Amino acid sequence: MKIINARDYQELSQKAAEMIIKQIKTKPNSILGLASGNTVIGLYRELGRAYQAGQISFIEASTFNLDEYVGLAVDEKNSCHYHMDEHLFKQTDFKVENIHLPNGVAEDLEAECVCYENLIKQAGGIDLQILGIGLNGHLGFNEPGSSFNSITRIVDLTKGTRQANAKNFINIKEVPKQAITMGIATIMQARQIILLANGRQKAGIIKRALQGEVTIKVPASVLQKHNNTAVILDEEAASKL
Ligand code: GLP
Repeated sequence: MKIINARDYQELSQKAAEMIIKQIKTKPNSILGLASGNTVIGLYRELGRAYQAGQISFIEASTFNLDEYVGLAVDEKNSCHYHMDEHLFKQTDFKVENIHLPNGVAEDLEAECVCYENLIKQAGGIDLQILGIGLNGHLGFNEPGSSFNSITRIVDLTKGTRQANAKNFINIKEVPKQAITMGIATIMQARQIILLANGRQKAGIIKRALQGEVTIKVPASVLQKHNNTAVILDEEAASKL
């Protein structure tokens, strides 16, 4: 894993944006794997700025997001889809038909998972996957204990994850108990991965993920086995390395 140090969140966001822009310039029809969550908001802001400044177009690119809450529809404020629309898709020229997220309100959720995994394969696999990391080391919504062979599926969210994500909801009761997530194996098939982490509260899990044992107890530790992963950290997140 290549570790890239950034001074602060702004520099982290800029460095990640530069890497995505480079990827799109090299291959305009790239397949991007995207994350929701707070960490990536600065990166998406930078991509929006670059597009609005005429520096880049995403018109040929496709996206596959990591995850979606079960029970939340596209237009619900706390859905991953809504988050992506607000922070990235409305600010850029990604074509609606090239944007993919699991459908958390599909009638047949199991079939939705199979279909999503197949769509990624049919697209030719992910060129560049962006990841955040949960406080417990989760990737997407692959909580500790997730098999390294897992593919897109329905998962139960831990209490800690629901608590961590509750800040955007009215209260924790409103946070869904399940999600659809790409699996660890799905993520590991990406040809390039960029993991982002900022802030002091991520320092402990970053140390375990990057320098600890590779174990399903810390899902992000699997990235030590990926041959093209960069980790961009601000000073606080890197402070325990
Ligand atoms: C969330 C999402 C992930 C995200 C991670 C970190 O629960 N499922 O896709 O990358 O946890 O979130 P944040 O960036 O808000 O810390």
